[in-house]
Amino acid sequence: MAAQTVSETNLSDLSLVHRGKVRDVYNIDASRLLLVATDRISAFDCVMPNQVPRKGEVLTNISAFWFEKLNGITKNHLITVDFKQMPEKIRKNAELRGRSTLVKKTEVFPVECVVRGYLEGSGWKDYQQTGEICGNKLPKGLKQCEKLLEPIFTPATKAASGHDENIDETKFAQIIGKETADQLKTKSLEIYEFASKYALSCGIIIADTKFEFGRDNDGNVLLIDEVLTPDSSRFWSLGTYQPGHAQPSFDKQFVREYLETLDWNKLPPAPQLPAEIVEATTSRYLEAYKLLTGTEL
Ligand SMILES: Nc1ncnc2c1ncn2[C@@H]1O[C@H](COP(=O)(O)OP(=O)(O)OP(=O)(O)O)[C@@H](O)[C@H]1O
Ligand SMILES: [Mg+2]
Repeated sequence: MAAQTVSETNLSDLSLVHRGKVRDVYNIDASRLLLVATDRISAFDCVMPNQVPRKGEVLTNISAFWFEKLNGITKNHLITVDFKQMPEKIRKNAELRGRSTLVKKTEVFPVECVVRGYLEGSGWKDYQQTGEICGNKLPKGLKQCEKLLEPIFTPATKAASGHDENIDETKFAQIIGKETADQLKTKSLEIYEFASKYALSCGIIIADTKFEFGRDNDGNVLLIDEVLTPDSSRFWSLGTYQPGHAQPSFDKQFVREYLETLDWNKLPPAPQLPAEIVEATTSRYLEAYKLLTGTEL
């Protein structure tokens, strides 16, 4: 029997403020939001028709783990992931258990704070075309997925629709102000340096990652959204890492490899994933959680 999955939540007495590819966001009151991680999975920017058991639970708990671990470095929006401690209007919806994060509502800075320690994705594309990423000049002759001499900050706009656009630091500062820009850059690099070192000791390379920040009612800058999950980052296995070509993705490797065997044009609707691919993917998510935290979920 497959574990029960949640593809979408529709809670009549909570107001849905946003539905992303994976998470549903509800307004709880003037100062709190509920982030619900479903078991939806996307690949090649398409949401798959079937779900991955336990994925939402794993993502929720990986973020919570990092918020705690990063406490000495940054304030964050986490109130609790402990279902028992949530308000009754949340608890009465059993499908939310284990996949919900109650957070402080913030005014979100409309930028994506990306840090890259390795050369892949849009960073690799930009580098091939211009030799730089977001104004960071890089040495010539770097290979795909090569480790950079030091991590770089490569911000992007938060595009309401479509793809985020990489921007340089001048543009970044124009959007949120110079002082905040400096603060978010410094914090992002500090978090990445700490977390990537830690993950490496667990056998996971965090090649790059995206942070979001917001300002709370008291004016504090908080780390928000999900953090350092396989959905907001590129996780690679240290054991198989080899620059010069694309790396298998830690979590979605089996999904992508399966989809590549099909005659599918990567446009919606996406094809159904076979049970063995789904099971292998659940295992990968659980393994990521275990490697990082040292405990079983
Ligand atoms: N503490 C917070 N205060 C206010 N907004 C928040 C907070 N934490 C997260 N958010 C917002 O909640 C939303 C979560 O959306 P989500 O990431 O699921 O979808 P998306 O970003 O639209 O698309 P994608 O699925 O591609 O990530 C984001 O807009 C994020 O900025
Ligand atoms: Mg998002």
